[in-house]
Amino acid sequence: MSEIPIGKLYGVGVGPGDPELITLKAVKILERVPVVLIPSGSGESIAFNIAKPYIRGEVLELEFPMTRDRGTLESIWDENAKRIKELLLEGRDAAFITLGDPMIYSTYIYIMERLEGFEIETIPGVTSFSAAASKLQMPIARGSRPFAVVPAGDEKIMQDVLRCFDNVVLMKVSGNYDRAVDLLKSEGFQAGLVIRGGHGDEEATFDLEKYRGKKLDYLSLIIGRKVVK
Ligand SMILES: C[S@@+](CC[C@H](N)C(=O)[O-])C[C@H]1O[C@@H](n2cnc3c(N)ncnc32)[C@H](O)[C@@H]1O
Repeated sequence: MSEIPIGKLYGVGVGPGDPELITLKAVKILERVPVVLIPSGSGESIAFNIAKPYIRGEVLELEFPMTRDRGTLESIWDENAKRIKELLLEGRDAAFITLGDPMIYSTYIYIMERLEGFEIETIPGVTSFSAAASKLQMPIARGSRPFAVVPAGDEKIMQDVLRCFDNVVLMKVSGNYDRAVDLLKSEGFQAGLVIRGGHGDEEATFDLEKYRGKKLDYLSLIIGRKVVK
């Protein structure tokens, strides 16, 4: 009796938005796999829109509701990982897509960690801040200078990072934008903001004041460089 081979999971980064910033490797995998797993929960899946032209197989949406409750999150990750395991045990390969790079602030990380023992390959993607730096023509770091990537949620951490590093990337700024701008200013940073980088309605600017008090799109980040006086 022949055994069914177990399927392989690919974690595929599809880049930050520009349809041309998806890698050749990602495209080849998306064209080949019988199932593409789409994390959804906050409305339309942005990663899906980028990957759509290359998907030939079945699309399976996995719900990842937006919540901060750790217990709820754990059970959602467990449940979705179980579903993926079942699929792989049927002998089907599957690709789990993520926005930007899969190893940076992505849901895929929690799935990957729950699939120990299964064959997994992660395909890197162009991360949002690399694309944003290129859009702004603003180097993130030069020479042997360090740089830091930090989510803008925790003010204390943000302040500490701005004091320790001359080059910073502030991600997830939409929830704490005004405070992030205040801190950048008080710590002597020059900064650029990219909103929905690579999407049709992208905005890239050094006029951070313009967006104070406004509801910023979730896909927004800031790149900052300390001005040496
Ligand atoms: C959950 S993280 C995903 C990061 C992603 N894995 C990456 O490699 O860029 C979401 C945050 O990434 C940033 N982001 C992702 N795509 C973006 C884009 N197209 N333009 C600007 N910021 C973006 C925003 O700061 C957003 O809040």
